[in-house]
Amino acid sequence: IPVDTFDLVIFGGTGDLARRKILPGLYRRFVAGQMPEDARIIGAARSDLDDAGFRDMVGDAIAEFMPGQSKTDKTVKQFLSRLHYTAIDARGEAGWSNLAKLVRKDVVSAFYFSVGPGLFGDLASRLQKHGIAQENARIVVEKPFGRDLASAKELNGALAASFEEHQIYRIDHYLGKETVQNLMAVRFANVLFEPLWNAQYIDHVQITVAETVGVGGRGGYYDKSGAMRDMVQNHLMQLLCLTAMEPPARFEPDAVRDEKLKVIRALDPVEADDIVRGQYVADENGPSYVEDAENQDSLTESYIAMKVKLSNWRWNGTPFYLRTGKRLKARMSEIVVHFKETPHSIFDEDAGSHANVLSIRLQPDEGIDLRVTIKEPGPGGMRLVDVPLDMTFADALGPEAEDIPDAYERLIMDVIRGNQTLFMRGDEVEAAWAWTDPIIAAWKARGDRPKPYEPGTTGPEDALMMMHREHRRWREIKA
Ligand code: BG6
Repeated sequence: IPVDTFDLVIFGGTGDLARRKILPGLYRRFVAGQMPEDARIIGAARSDLDDAGFRDMVGDAIAEFMPGQSKTDKTVKQFLSRLHYTAIDARGEAGWSNLAKLVRKDVVSAFYFSVGPGLFGDLASRLQKHGIAQENARIVVEKPFGRDLASAKELNGALAASFEEHQIYRIDHYLGKETVQNLMAVRFANVLFEPLWNAQYIDHVQITVAETVGVGGRGGYYDKSGAMRDMVQNHLMQLLCLTAMEPPARFEPDAVRDEKLKVIRALDPVEADDIVRGQYVADENGPSYVEDAENQDSLTESYIAMKVKLSNWRWNGTPFYLRTGKRLKARMSEIVVHFKETPHSIFDEDAGSHANVLSIRLQPDEGIDLRVTIKEPGPGGMRLVDVPLDMTFADALGPEAEDIPDAYERLIMDVIRGNQTLFMRGDEVEAAWAWTDPIIAAWKARGDRPKPYEPGTTGPEDALMMMHREHRRWREIKA
């Protein structure tokens, strides 16, 4: 579906995120025919470039991050001709009147703050001061949205001084992932699952975001953050919310976000015993975490596993286990819902234990898989076996599945359409920090040391022990 024409200004337009994600994403939307003829993309950054210099840089980025593309291709050239650039001083006056001339007043305008949070307030106030932001202007901000409740409040305040909440799009790129939205479709467009979606039928839920990459190259940022701030407070929290929330009355921004907020507010504080933190050591493929972070004394975690409980009617007694880490065995993100066993087995010959398991795979190989129990084929009597009812999107949907837009593409187009459903509201982010802060403070207070783990494994032994204690087992991490 084409969108209305727009002017999109990318502050930090020469930066890493813009080159790696935002601009290639826009290029893909252009190729898909979703970008109106006269839509404009305006890079704004400190570098002293002109339009030609910016186009050249973006052409290189497309060639680098999109295999098979070259900046001499006709389509790439057509896309590049939409690009403009203005050098700007976020904290001073230089460049702003030029930007004011470039941004049209009669089309949708969006301002992507692809810069550190320290500049959010400056950019927001200058956009107003120079009369660049119209009433329906939208601003887009990235994580990290603060590093604790106090700083998140400060950022919300700085943005609120210049923009209304309905104009602010806080990105969590996990919400742009196809399967994350499919989680809502599965839950709320089928009659099959929702009646069982509660503590009476669900034994526990596991949410895993495993990565094979380390933190090399961004150790400076990461060491001040750690897995809890970098992944749990935002991405895993969003996955938890969508899994645990009540059905919203409508698929509308505030209806969905109200329900997510209720989930965060229902989270119990987490006991120290229910958390395992880890730090990868060196192996033949790469340096250790502390070397990557260039901080030999670092107590920051590159892995975390935790048991989370919700105090509400739906989930009382059903734990959610969250885990995420760097340099693990495989790249795999999954939400896995373990149903309870049947209350009574009528098949005497079968000694095994069986339970339905619904897994929602975010990456790789997006898809949904439901484990069901059937009779083992053959004459051996009523022996049972668990088999997958597998729906890999690529198999089920054919070529359509190959066209799944990347998270950033989808989210940017939602900004242009003015749809905030897949963006975090200010109170949601604050509630997530309010839950996170005491957990981190407790580690600080007792000088908690992350457990070392070998790269290429599933993380520290203690995480296995934690599940063992619960008489449960982690889902296998495999690509
Ligand atoms: C980012 C984190 O938000 O998400 C990174 O800062 C992490 O540390 C990344 O690697 C994971 O995103 P994806 O889309 O590759 O799963």
